[in-house]
Amino acid sequence: MDLVIWLDVAVLLSLWQCVESTGAAKEWTYAGATGQSEWPVFFPECGGSSQSPINVDTSKIHYDASLPELRPLGYEQYGHEPFTLSNNGHTVEIPLPSWMGVAGLPWHFSAVQLHLHWGNGVGVATGSEHSIDDQRASAELHVVHYNSELYSNISEAKTQGNGLAVLAVLIEAGEETNQAYTNILNYLGRIRYAGQKVLIPAFNVGTLLPSDLSRYFRYSGSLTTPPCHESVLWTIFIEKVKISHSQLLKLETMLYISRPGSANPKPLQDNYRSTQPLNNRTVLSSFTPVSGNIYTAGEISAMVVGGLCGCVGLAVIVRFIVKTIRSMSSWDVLSSVRPHPQQRTKDTARDMALRTTSDPGTNEEANLQSKP
Ligand SMILES: *[C@@H]1O[C@H](CO)[C@@H](O)[C@H](O)[C@H]1NC(C)=O
Repeated sequence: MDLVIWLDVAVLLSLWQCVESTGAAKEWTYAGATGQSEWPVFFPECGGSSQSPINVDTSKIHYDASLPELRPLGYEQYGHEPFTLSNNGHTVEIPLPSWMGVAGLPWHFSAVQLHLHWGNGVGVATGSEHSIDDQRASAELHVVHYNSELYSNISEAKTQGNGLAVLAVLIEAGEETNQAYTNILNYLGRIRYAGQKVLIPAFNVGTLLPSDLSRYFRYSGSLTTPPCHESVLWTIFIEKVKISHSQLLKLETMLYISRPGSANPKPLQDNYRSTQPLNNRTVLSSFTPVSGNIYTAGEISAMVVGGLCGCVGLAVIVRFIVKTIRSMSSWDVLSSVRPHPQQRTKDTARDMALRTTSDPGTNEEANLQSKP
């Protein structure tokens, strides 16, 4: 017994030395002994004052008219080389070629990788890292870029101010299958365990983004995973992307944080960081919060047209119901009088009489119509 304890201590000590000597305390998780609250112990920057993610309070954002529409560069030039999709135990990730980039930011940024964050599929939608007015989405895509105008590579850029730019896309569940996300989600079964990789056909990364790249929130923050460097210029698009419920379920249930061969593999779920304090930072918006807040002119006109259609539709339905009730009461009279519809011709006179009796109804309808 003593020996076992002594061995444990020895193992722990040598592990600690290993961590110390390499300077890379690598183990971290989202929950448990190495969970989020412990991150600052091993990664001091995680306890900083400009951390991510944040909640965007739309009543406190500042409109900045100088923020332009973002333009992905080369996202559609994915070439013939396949992409590598991997499960790193924290997320699914695809490294991106550095010829891909994004324009519309204060410097030129080159693509590095993309990855996702998600929840566990139980209860209300959770899983996104950023929230808007305290509403989390079901998942979140991050396309990571580094500032290739100021720095020569990602390792240099990732610790510097404005060294990284991450495009964040909020994802929610809908009815239809999102073909773009199929390019990733169809292959999760091949990388269920941590450390696994698979080659997948390259695809246009731009199709993962929402169609409106002109309306977004901007703030300065950090990596949302250790070592939490405060080097990220964040862009959160206001338009959400929809994937189907079954696609979301795949993301939430297919992967493990455990290595292959693990007897009791643990699911890779809830890999999103809790909301960090905004402190003295300002969140900018590229769109004016005054005129129509989060709706475009197109959406507003759609709503107006929709509303009108709704009113007209309601009027038609009311009219139909009134008519039906009236004709049903006529039938009641008719059925007692004549058992078979064939006899109709014989009863033309009575029909005509009935019609004339129902005539005042038409006048009432006319009155109804003139009311509004
Ligand atoms: C990144 O750039 C720095 C500075 O130019 C250089 O010292 C370092 O070796 C580079 N790292 C990689 C991984 O290329």
